[in-house]
Amino acid sequence: MQIDPAVLTEREIYKILTGAVVPRPIAWVATIGEEGTPNLAPFSYFNIACTDPPMLLFCPQRRGDGSPKDTLRNVQTTGEFVLHIVSEELAAAMNQTSAEYPYATDEFAATGLRAAPSSLVAPPRVADAAVAFECRVEQIVHVGSARGGEIVIGRVLQIHVRDDVYHDGYIILDALKPVARLAGNDYARVNDTFSLQRPSKVGP
Ligand SMILES: Cc1cc2nc3c(=O)[nH]c(=O)nc-3n(C[C@H](O)[C@H](O)[C@H](O)COP(=O)(O)O)c2cc1C
Repeated sequence: MQIDPAVLTEREIYKILTGAVVPRPIAWVATIGEEGTPNLAPFSYFNIACTDPPMLLFCPQRRGDGSPKDTLRNVQTTGEFVLHIVSEELAAAMNQTSAEYPYATDEFAATGLRAAPSSLVAPPRVADAAVAFECRVEQIVHVGSARGGEIVIGRVLQIHVRDDVYHDGYIILDALKPVARLAGNDYARVNDTFSLQRPSKVGP
């Protein structure tokens, strides 16, 4: 079967992309508004953009009417965010922060999450997150139509890692217990892994 995306509705395309591009890690992004209200929301269009220097990217899509989500509005105006990795014990709280709260809602308070001050950026971090990256916006790239979205690229300025999650320079997967997004309301755990040796250099 071949599918021409040009004949599909946006919803149909969304179902194919989010069903096929799995599992997606989840960036749980804290920002603050110009007036100082903290905001927290999850984004599974998320990955590493670069390691030298360390940069992460996530992609807030526009709302149906083309308006920006609160997270985008905040990173555009303040240039800072804290990106957390979502462990299993925080999955329900993460999901709750995906609700469309009115702009001035403090989603830490609304969901009962403990906030901790960040060291280099203004947005607070989720105190109980196993890993948090304090980031400064490097670039925001618009993609797609007016109702498309943005790629937000942030430079990592500071890394917070819970002690039990870090050993000898490595992140301990069994302690991190990350959750990943699948299609619809489904999530995956990362607990069935295997290894492949990378091939050595081939050719001249
Ligand atoms: C697990 C999960 C992943 C999500 N990933 C994205 C995403 O990558 N891009 C996006 O625009 N919205 C995504 N959403 C929806 C946003 O979290 C939701 O629109 C939220 O209300 C945005 O909050 P804000 O307006 O405070 O920025 C996701 C929701 C969930 C539950």
